[in-house]
Amino acid sequence: MKTLFVGQNCIHLKSIDSTNSYASQLLDQIKPAEGTLIYTFDQQNGRGQRGNTWETEPNKNVASSFILYPSFLQAGRQFSLNKITSLAVADLMAELIQPSDKTHEIRIKWPNDIYIGSKKIAGILIENTLRENTIQSSIIGIGININQTAFNADINATSLAQVTNKEFDLMQVLEKLTEFIEARYLQLKGNKLESIDAAYLQHLYQLNEWHNYTSDNQYFEGKIIGISAIGKLQMQLKTTEIKEFDLKEIRFV
Ligand code: BTN
Repeated sequence: MKTLFVGQNCIHLKSIDSTNSYASQLLDQIKPAEGTLIYTFDQQNGRGQRGNTWETEPNKNVASSFILYPSFLQAGRQFSLNKITSLAVADLMAELIQPSDKTHEIRIKWPNDIYIGSKKIAGILIENTLRENTIQSSIIGIGININQTAFNADINATSLAQVTNKEFDLMQVLEKLTEFIEARYLQLKGNKLESIDAAYLQHLYQLNEWHNYTSDNQYFEGKIIGISAIGKLQMQLKTTEIKEFDLKEIRFV
């Protein structure tokens, strides 16, 4: 890996239920080096956001978890980790998808789904452990659809292979991801918050557009206008009222 510390300690598992769960168990036992990477090409019981599962065909995709110790971040700034992780995956997509294949744009669907056009190509599950007011450890879990070409119609997914009509070397994709994670993490550590926020907003799916959403089983039309300091979605309503939503409170329709 061409990195300073991320991925320098690297644990490859032939098969595992969930790399995030493995990382969490490891953290309960020891303090692995910062940047420790746990990965598999055969994740059997991947976990997603909102208690969802993350399903992948064996040996077609990469499931990875990075262990970081962002003790410099106040608990209230946890969402910065979602931002830099989303940006690292978006950076990776920008590098692997040639401009000629870019019939669709690379977008971050709040809080941290990575979309190509209207389909999801990668998912992120970040699990932080807080101590007092700071982040003691963070498990950054990333699943990227790489060479899988068949998906259940109901999950609206795509892969690098589907977008580009090419096959990818899984290890090379993972190495590049690791480099982008380190670069974005160092940007955060260097307190370059304005650049991070601007890049995140620049990629944000449906920013400043009117679309339908549901909240409390009610449909409404809204326009995403930004993200609050703690990572809530800020939405303008047709009544001109501005409302903030957290992950459990809103769904894209
Ligand atoms: C989502 O889209 O809901 C998030 C999916 C996150 C999947 C990754 S794969 C590696 C890591 N281990 C897990 O069990 N989940 C994350």
